[in-house]
Amino acid sequence: AGSPWDECFEAAVQLARRAGQIISKALTEEKRVSTKTSAADLVTETDRLVEDLIVSELRKQFPSHRFIAEEATAAGAKCELTTSPTWIIDPIDGTCNFVHRFPDVAVSIGFAVHRELEFGVVHHCVEERLYSARRGHGAFCNGQQLWVSGETDLSRALILTEIGSKRDPATLKLLLGNMEQLLLAKAHGVRVIGSSTLALCHLAAGAVDAYYQFGLHCWDLAAATVIVREAGGIVMDTTGGPLDLMSRRVVAAGTQKMATLVAQALQPISYERDDV
Ligand code: IPD
Repeated sequence: AGSPWDECFEAAVQLARRAGQIISKALTEEKRVSTKTSAADLVTETDRLVEDLIVSELRKQFPSHRFIAEEATAAGAKCELTTSPTWIIDPIDGTCNFVHRFPDVAVSIGFAVHRELEFGVVHHCVEERLYSARRGHGAFCNGQQLWVSGETDLSRALILTEIGSKRDPATLKLLLGNMEQLLLAKAHGVRVIGSSTLALCHLAAGAVDAYYQFGLHCWDLAAATVIVREAGGIVMDTTGGPLDLMSRRVVAAGTQKMATLVAQALQPISYERDDV
């Protein structure tokens, strides 16, 4: 039986592909770069152009829906998840990669109803990999079903994380201390690729065993959370409690055991919530 959100899901896939074409083309062109909350928090005209395209098309099709989108939020729009059907959009996840032509960039479109994530679409523009998942229907990349790894031992784990935008000495000390703890626990490796969304998609595909970050935003997380869960993985708060999309922190893993071990190794880094 069809889900009431099938039409929305199809629209998300179409728009992620259209946006991906624009981003891939712009990747190699000259860019005008500005900064947002810090010298490492970047935005380009393409971020805004792609966000406007996605949001205006969706608004036309679904006029009663609400939107949370990265660049509109940066421009002052309220970031509030209500019970209404809500689209949660990152036009370019990996903007710093995009600026440098490092080819890990993605469009991320998540959709929540009654504050529950219903589906997620993540498009790796350069490699044309379309990751998607609908709640209860499995996770896929270009038609192939995804499954997380079953690893439970930290000393056999490959772990992804992201640095985040704060670069003050106290934050960096905590950030590097967290990596150090995982390496002291003999993790096989810790990797940073510059896109939270794509990091979570690698987790969903079983290419890494865990992912954690402090300082990401709800739009980096929404779509990929559905993909990880539908691939059999865990996405939770760094305290071990349930995920709070607005809390700017996450631990995700293929197994509950791995998620708990990673969470226990971490010192918290505080960021202002998305919904203040
Ligand atoms: C950022 C990237 C980065 C992560 C930041 C995100 P953006 O998203 O995912 O890897 O460290 O926390 O905000 O700004 O490129 O959409």
